Amino acid sequence: MDFNSLNTLQRNRLNLKLKPIFVGQLFIIESLNHPAFYYNQKEFELILHPEEGITSDFITDYAKSFSSEIFIYEEDYQEINLKLKEELTKLTRSLSIGDVRKNAIKHTNFLSMQMDTLYKDPFNDELLTNQFQNTKNLSNLLTKHKDIHKPIYQNIIQSRYHYTYKQPLLSSILLLSFIQSLKLFNEKEIEGIFLTSYFKDIGMSFIPREKFEEAHLSDFDKQLFANHAQNSMEILEGRVPLSLNQLNLIKNHHYLNYKIQALVTNKQVPHMDEYLTGIESVLLSSIDILVAMTTDRPYRKAVSSFKALELLKHVISDEYPQEYKALVLFLKNFLMK
Ligand SMILES: [Fe+2]
Repeated sequence: MDFNSLNTLQRNRLNLKLKPIFVGQLFIIESLNHPAFYYNQKEFELILHPEEGITSDFITDYAKSFSSEIFIYEEDYQEINLKLKEELTKLTRSLSIGDVRKNAIKHTNFLSMQMDTLYKDPFNDELLTNQFQNTKNLSNLLTKHKDIHKPIYQNIIQSRYHYTYKQPLLSSILLLSFIQSLKLFNEKEIEGIFLTSYFKDIGMSFIPREKFEEAHLSDFDKQLFANHAQNSMEILEGRVPLSLNQLNLIKNHHYLNYKIQALVTNKQVPHMDEYLTGIESVLLSSIDILVAMTTDRPYRKAVSSFKALELLKHVISDEYPQEYKALVLFLKNFLMK
């Protein structure tokens, strides 16, 4: 295709054929069969020619100068996804061999890229099953290698992945690390909690991408966000081996946020007593809030771990004083040092 020979109408129609991907995903292949574009809010600009070699310099420069998203043709998109799946399978077989920390970083990168694809196509069974299996493998690796939790967490913090799937990955790693330190759960239970935590926000895939950048949302949009927990449960139900209890944890994973909201606004949240509580739920929700508050969003800055812990203290320390104390000590070592 000669892009320069396209008229304005043909150029405008490109958005019907193109798909946005996280530019880092191009790492996985050597070149594309079709051109790739940057969208400057008005029109597509040709950035990469077909068959042109993709280098890490190109990816870094593009991310710095243009955007974290690049638009590619559907055929190339499919090829990248296939390659990603192959690479994940290959890596999975050798996760514990050689430099485990390096392998785990690579694995979380591939996993995030695949999650990006899954967010675009949440009802793709093959993709969901593959992501679920790969997450299980990561859980296994993390359980066996406590020393890699911190460097992996730091590496993901610095990555440019979209926060909608960076957040569940970060919170799940921190949660796994914390519950392992508590010595209350066996390996199988830890794996179950990790998977539950990781998939809990998949319902976010129903929300248009531009809404994630906005600081002020309409009531309708707020409802859209509030529905994500229920939507996550419905997306996953019957499609992945999560128990009813785990699906309920997902459905309720924002209950502590509602408690905080009630505290801040001094208003009772309706139907609060219908929410599932219990140790797993408290731990999962607390860590989720902690990670969310201590990481930047496009519309606000992160707060300190100290501030986040102070807020959490009001909603969990009466009912779970031991766990709260353990969490403070754990975070002192994990985040603050
Ligand atoms: Fe959530």
